[in-house]
Amino acid sequence: MSQDGRISRRTFCQSVGLLAGAAIAARASGQTTTKATPMTGHTNGDCWLDQTGQSLQAHGGGMLLHDGAYYWYGENRIAPERDFNGTKRHAGGGVACYRSTDLVSWKSLGVVLACSEDPQHDLYFGKVLERPKVIYNTGTKKFVMWMHIDTPNYGFARAGVAIADDPAGPFQYLTSYRPNNFMSRDQTVFIDREGSAYQIGSSDENATGMISLLTDDYLKPSGKFVKVFENRQMEAFSFVEHDGKYWMIASGCTGWKPNKARSAVADSFMGPWHELPNPCVGDGAEQTFGGQSAFIIPPGPANRIPIAMFDIWRPKDLKTSGYMWLPIAWEQQKMVIRHRATWRPIA
Ligand code: GAL
Repeated sequence: MSQDGRISRRTFCQSVGLLAGAAIAARASGQTTTKATPMTGHTNGDCWLDQTGQSLQAHGGGMLLHDGAYYWYGENRIAPERDFNGTKRHAGGGVACYRSTDLVSWKSLGVVLACSEDPQHDLYFGKVLERPKVIYNTGTKKFVMWMHIDTPNYGFARAGVAIADDPAGPFQYLTSYRPNNFMSRDQTVFIDREGSAYQIGSSDENATGMISLLTDDYLKPSGKFVKVFENRQMEAFSFVEHDGKYWMIASGCTGWKPNKARSAVADSFMGPWHELPNPCVGDGAEQTFGGQSAFIIPPGPANRIPIAMFDIWRPKDLKTSGYMWLPIAWEQQKMVIRHRATWRPIA
């Protein structure tokens, strides 16, 4: 992210993270300090801060665990206003990446996939780039990013793919697909226990989900696919493997507005999938506590159990959108998510 794009926490964050480091707090108030207190957590719902006190721009994001470090990729929503045929609106800011070993303190690695100035290009700053996710191919040793590519009216409905030699990028954009000649929006990717990778998106005007098996290099849809959750109007799919089964959390289709989360389970990734109840319980559960699913972090060095990542969208000013990470429990063969005020790693 360029220095120009950097923003102060005072301007854009919704509230002061009670757990942010002392050095950051001191700098924001104009004091100097030599002693930094490590961050221990973040306030759920806030726009969180990176290690230097800048707002985290990883909306609609996904997590890659590689060589003991977590890489968080997401939509950078900080970009200048530009003129689009006489109307001023914010341009796309590309895909930003952050690195952490504790899931709390995030070092910005900048924009790893930038937008293009070419109106014909998929990555043109006036188009839509959402929900980027990165997977690592152990055969080719390439990092492969899949993302939702669209026109401002969401009529293009394609899945784009980019490739890098390093998790910190830079990523080189390859092309986009309508997988199997069907629409794809709100997409994600997932690697199953056999190492097969899948791209999953909302198809048929978001009425139906679609799981597409990718080729062995993870760069293209293989042609093998299945339609899932037919006419159930789901989007924002996220997946995790747990106890020998595959589990899904998604949302309904109400744009930026929160709705009731969906969940499902399958023995094999291509299905059949069986729908389960809303995984959220307690106050605010009917509206996913104000959030929308983005990704599920599988267990790793800093999280003993899977963590559901949600976005708290603020559509009037998307760069101020917040994050909410909640641990997933399994109770009576169902996923259960309870709200917590703060995100702290559960080691
Ligand atoms: C949501 C979707 C977001 C974004 C938004 C636009 O439903 O999950 O990623 O596309 O709609 O309205």
